[in-house]
Amino acid sequence: MDTILTTYNGVEFTIGTAILEFSYLLAAILFVYGLKLLSRPETARKGNLWAAVGMVLAMITTLLLHTDSSGSHIKMTNAIVIILTVAVGSVLGLIISKRVKMTAMPQLVSFFNATGGLASALVGLLEFSNPGNESLLVTLLGLIVGSVAFSGSMIAYGKLDGKIGNVSAGFMKYINFLILAGLVILTVYILMQPDPHAVSSLVYILFAAALIYGVLFVLPIGGADMPVVISLLNSLTGIAAALAGFIYNNQAMILGGILVGAAGSILTLLMCKAMNRSLMNVILGGFGGGGTVQGDEGGTIKEISVSDASILLAYSKKVVIVPGYGLAVAQAQHTVHELEKILESKGVSVKYGIHPVAGRMPGHMNVLLAEADVSYDKLVEMDEINKEMETTDVIIIVGANDVVNPSANDHPGSPIYGMPIINAEKAKNVIVMKRGMGKGYAGIENPLFFKDNTRMFFGNAKDSLQKLVNEVNTL
Ligand code: TAP
Repeated sequence: MDTILTTYNGVEFTIGTAILEFSYLLAAILFVYGLKLLSRPETARKGNLWAAVGMVLAMITTLLLHTDSSGSHIKMTNAIVIILTVAVGSVLGLIISKRVKMTAMPQLVSFFNATGGLASALVGLLEFSNPGNESLLVTLLGLIVGSVAFSGSMIAYGKLDGKIGNVSAGFMKYINFLILAGLVILTVYILMQPDPHAVSSLVYILFAAALIYGVLFVLPIGGADMPVVISLLNSLTGIAAALAGFIYNNQAMILGGILVGAAGSILTLLMCKAMNRSLMNVILGGFGGGGTVQGDEGGTIKEISVSDASILLAYSKKVVIVPGYGLAVAQAQHTVHELEKILESKGVSVKYGIHPVAGRMPGHMNVLLAEADVSYDKLVEMDEINKEMETTDVIIIVGANDVVNPSANDHPGSPIYGMPIINAEKAKNVIVMKRGMGKGYAGIENPLFFKDNTRMFFGNAKDSLQKLVNEVNTL
């Protein structure tokens, strides 16, 4: 393994190095292949597995073949520590993933994201004082980005879990701007020192300031704007991992990080578009939650009985189902699919209107419905389904709220003003399935529930859908 193949710029390339670099290339190919498979619900599990195989391959070859600048392999004691920590982490991951409820998945993803950010931040913190480290700019950038991703993701975790509420004040974006400017100035100051390693205590100030920035930039995000921040934090973790990879000149880390960073950045832009927000606003943390929260609409609501709803549905030509977070809570995806099949057997055309931020994580509704084998071509994106609203006989809203709230169009003071919604109110009849008059994630009243063409069908979504299935079956 240590036979020298060639020497380039004074660096010796051995058979071991060649195998190591080749394994990184293979791992990168597996990551890309995994990502491709992840883009379709039917192949997503396989995609996850292939990407994991790539990661295991990169870890094993690194342990066996990595050499430092003096040509020494990883020390046995270090290798044992690495193997033990990987084993403990894997067992913990397995237990947590078996126990976590599907509805708590977004929080879990945020938590995992936080650990990735922290790992990169710690690499930056440790490697800055390493005298052999010549990539100081990259090290500091990795430290800052990783710290922001860590503390921001922990706040996102708390918010998604309902443990942390919105803390919003108009002046916070100015504070955030000042901290950002401070981070840049301190980084430049450290790098301009004749011996930056000598001022390594300043790096701890940088670390603390970046942690504070992460907290302050996510804390005020409210209304319904969390999806944008979650995907931005995800992309920051990828970028931080890639920067850490540069410090060690490790191709697998660089490529893996770049793929996560790029995927997260694309998702952030898509989410910004879905929420009609600008990226700059997200970075300064000054959007969402700032508007006036409306009080009670004061109108009256009308309920619909199971039999009336069943007759209305069974004799319709076109029905659109809009799923939301409540569908996930009730785990009603199989029952909604059953209703769809029964209606179709009666000649009703049924489609699903999918809002890009319905639920609590990107693609939440697609994943849920795919689990119930709902045909993918029945899922219609928001912009497309909105074109069909006027010709829809009945729109059934199953556990959705914010994503069909007309305040986003009509109330300039609303925290969700400007966010594109599914224009359910334009359908001929609206049936809203929810347990009571509970608010959605944005915590605001929904005027749709008080419209003339809206009827409320109260109850747990799964039970209500089952009642409809039973009743429509008898017609
Ligand atoms: P929400 O606006 O959160 O509304 C969900 C509704 O479901 C609630 O009003 C609740 O009313 C009802 N519900 C809960 N459990 C139910 C059950 N078992 N059966 C029937 N109904 C139930 O959901 P949405 O319309 O999907 O909007 C998503 C929101 O989350 C948006 O504001 C979005 O910005 C935010 N968010 C999204 C993401 C991503 S990436 N998708 C991430 C973070 C935050 P009752 O209590 O009256 O039943």
